[in-house]
Amino acid sequence: MKDTSQRLLKAPKSAIRELFDLALGRSDVISLGIGQPDFNTPEPVIEGNINALKKNITMYAPTRGVPELLELIEDKLSKVNKINVNWKDNIIVTNGASQAITLAFASIFNPGDEIIICSPNFVSYFYCTSFFGVKVVEVERNIDFSPNFKKIRKAITNKTKAILINSPNNPTGHALSPKELNELIDIIIEYDLYLITDEVYENYIYDGLKHVSPASLDGMFERTVTVNAMSKLFSATGFRLGFVVASKEIIDLMEKYHQYTIAGTNHAAQYGYIEALKMGIDFFKEIWESFNKRRNLVYDRLSKIGFELVKPKGAFYVMPSTKKYNLTGSEFSQTLMKEQAVAVVPGGIFGSFSDHMIRISYATEIEKLKEAMNRIEKFIQKS
Ligand SMILES: Cc1ncc(COP(=O)(O)O)c(C=O)c1O
Repeated sequence: MKDTSQRLLKAPKSAIRELFDLALGRSDVISLGIGQPDFNTPEPVIEGNINALKKNITMYAPTRGVPELLELIEDKLSKVNKINVNWKDNIIVTNGASQAITLAFASIFNPGDEIIICSPNFVSYFYCTSFFGVKVVEVERNIDFSPNFKKIRKAITNKTKAILINSPNNPTGHALSPKELNELIDIIIEYDLYLITDEVYENYIYDGLKHVSPASLDGMFERTVTVNAMSKLFSATGFRLGFVVASKEIIDLMEKYHQYTIAGTNHAAQYGYIEALKMGIDFFKEIWESFNKRRNLVYDRLSKIGFELVKPKGAFYVMPSTKKYNLTGSEFSQTLMKEQAVAVVPGGIFGSFSDHMIRISYATEIEKLKEAMNRIEKFIQKS
């Protein structure tokens, strides 16, 4: 047989999957591995989807998305993100943020181009880029997980096409400060680069910080590709709906790729997203408060146990170091699972600079979080 795709062969199978294999058949496992909020998708969203199916909305959707949905996204972008666009030119509905990221890569890059990513960062960026022949240049974050701008400047070559950011960030919990954002934008403009910004955690931000969309800032819209989704805000990861907002030129290119690869997204589910956007986000206040409480709980407990860690400013993850326990993140997570039935993700999957870290998700109810912290404490005391 002839060989199969080298690009795909090189991408590893998900290490998170391997961890969950260890948990198979055990009822005592508490998972702190999950990247999905634990509240239910709001009822109107589910109803919107069901009603659309009952009305026989089961045929192909318009390639860029249902116009009513695009208009509501335009409105949200203007009111929430201060990005003023025209839905007919500047938005495309995607299969979650995941496909939005794929579209960003497909529309910007040629093989051999380079992208700069601060590391650790969301795992898909590292492999999805390789499917398009793009070279990832990883730049290690500072100790507090902020971007290291000196290192970013040094990493720029004549092949650098874009910088990718995800703020608030999975896995580090870092959220860019206004000063950091300005510094980043200076670099983008100075070196004539694109900025890809993944904003799926825009609502999960704490300590009085406010999310700012780079595309709303002076001179940035034309060079920014903004990615977002309904997945995290509406606890609707299974709806598989998100969107990209970008210049007409880029969205036109994306439409072509979209047409030939997926022909549009789930039609009836888009009516669920329509209802979601009509709801506004008042419902989220209670959820935000709960996540903030969990964040404080996990940070306080882990600090008291003795972990070196940075208090997360956003998203719902924290990334403690395992160095002082003489364990790699992978050894730590495997042994913790075997001995205490708690699933945490080894940091090494999030890039080249986090082998000695683990990622803990606190998107789990508070009582389970407390029990998980007790078990982690026992594990540390024994080792
Ligand atoms: C930073 C980031 N971007 C994108 C995604 C994927 O989002 P979606 O489920 O909408 O494809 C995730 C999922 O965990 C994520 O953490």
